[in-house]
Amino acid sequence: MSKRVQSVLFVCLGNICRSPTAHAVFRDKVKQARLSVEIDSAGTAAYHVGNPPDARSKAHAQLRGWDFSALYARKVKVTDFAHYDLVLAMDESNYQDLMDICPLEYQDKVKLFLDFAYNYPEISEVPDPYYGGESGFEQVLDLVEDGCDGLLKLC
Ligand code: 4NP
Repeated sequence: MSKRVQSVLFVCLGNICRSPTAHAVFRDKVKQARLSVEIDSAGTAAYHVGNPPDARSKAHAQLRGWDFSALYARKVKVTDFAHYDLVLAMDESNYQDLMDICPLEYQDKVKLFLDFAYNYPEISEVPDPYYGGESGFEQVLDLVEDGCDGLLKLC
């Protein structure tokens, strides 16, 4: 059997909508399962460094009971690739941006987050909700909860 996943970094563009949602949901699921996994999230861009998650992401997630405390945006750094077992991109653009800076020896750690999802086999990306309506934030949660369930089985 392959080694259990012990650390995960979730990555999107701004680190204020999708990846902090995955961070929060997975943190709660890991806690509920009484497992120990190091979890963080980051953005490929620095626009929102130091900021808490988008208020819309937080409001929708809290309605489903997810804990959004202590989440602050940061930018991905090259040392993340050595540190984390998995570096999970929310969409293809994030994946390409990560692969552009990932040292060759760690490129097999970089994957699309929804590779781990079960219920939405036709969807490979978590769509960016930032410029859209409220339903986009619900879709992010649906996809993130499913992907996190799949990921949890590897921990
Ligand atoms: P995220 O969403 O990548 O899911 O955090 C975005 C947040 C901010 C921007 C774009 C996407 N922005 O352009 O500021």
